[in-house]
Amino acid sequence: MHGERVLLIVGGGIAAYKACELVRLIRKAGGSVTCVLTEGGAHFVTPMTLAALSENQVHTTLWDLKDEAEMGHIQLSRQADLVVVCPATADLLARMAAGGADDLATTLLLATDKPVLAAPAMNVRMWRHAATVRNIARLRADGVTILEPDEGEMSCGEFGPGRLPEPARILAAVEEALAPADLRLAGRHAIVTAGPVALPPPTGVARVDVEPALEMQAAVRAALPADVAVMAAAVSDWRVGEKAPSKLKKTADAPRNLSLVENPDILADLTASPHRPLLVVGFAAETERVIENAAAKRARKGCDTIVANDVSRDVFSGDHNQVHLVTGDGIESWERLTKVQVAEQLADRIAEALNGTA
Ligand SMILES: Cc1cc2nc3c(=O)[nH]c(=O)nc-3n(C[C@H](O)[C@H](O)[C@H](O)COP(=O)(O)O)c2cc1C
Repeated sequence: MHGERVLLIVGGGIAAYKACELVRLIRKAGGSVTCVLTEGGAHFVTPMTLAALSENQVHTTLWDLKDEAEMGHIQLSRQADLVVVCPATADLLARMAAGGADDLATTLLLATDKPVLAAPAMNVRMWRHAATVRNIARLRADGVTILEPDEGEMSCGEFGPGRLPEPARILAAVEEALAPADLRLAGRHAIVTAGPVALPPPTGVARVDVEPALEMQAAVRAALPADVAVMAAAVSDWRVGEKAPSKLKKTADAPRNLSLVENPDILADLTASPHRPLLVVGFAAETERVIENAAAKRARKGCDTIVANDVSRDVFSGDHNQVHLVTGDGIESWERLTKVQVAEQLADRIAEALNGTA
């Protein structure tokens, strides 16, 4: 960071102590922090702690004559580069979602013209309650970035999602939110399918969790129209035809046969759609005749680009990959790169292709 200003709103949750560490980390990373402490938040951490850590005045009330005369609450909400709500309690999220302005924090959140990042933290039942689910969906639709809480044991002894992520992860989200956007893809809607990963979705990405292929097909269809689809999930070709309603007991007879039915071809389904994205990128994991098989797949599936790779060696458990881009213009073989570099280079190509076709 290079002196970016963060307005940190600390709500009244048990995880408020982690906000103190966040202040320290943001400053260490090169940012500056001004804290707003809600009435609930002040039951958990003191203004003195936040003032000492931020080396800035801490604001706690809307009704402060001196504060109001010196700068005013609207000004406070505008002079930051990013507003972070941490911890975002169920109550604070509800007040934000309702557009309330009954204290300094919510008034600033309503008056700000800056991006807002909220890190919820609460008991698992509060997090899963229909009211909170509704409030989170409302806030996301309003453009607030929600950092998914961690799953684990909570201070109340229960287990599940609702824990505030570690301050280092919140710092990463803050840095991501402050990073200059790659404007080449600004305003573009991209669909990315992926297999199960342990990574949290990047900031600003709406993730739809699915299990069987049929659910993924429905989710992809529902996400249309889109500018680009990057179909990275390796979906099984087959699924079990008949699900047993109860446990299959061992019998004296020979083992049962499993009947399989074919899964839908999600990629071919997408390219045949009347809402086909401008650019469809498929993947081919091959063990022999890599380029030849990938070129055939590209023609068969009707996609624009196939990213082909030879998975017969160390690709699956390694950090590197060597891929070939098969497009209508021919074959381009990339050098061996880290998987992150492959992804970045592919994003560059997508931006170039879309801007050429826009
Ligand atoms: C010991 C204690 C811990 C609490 N922890 C949380 C919490 O982690 N998350 C939450 O949403 N509410 C929690 N609450 C309830 C909030 O403090 C309460 O809803 C408060 O009004 C929230 O204030 P705010 O809207 O200023 O954040 C807790 C309450 C107590 C007494």
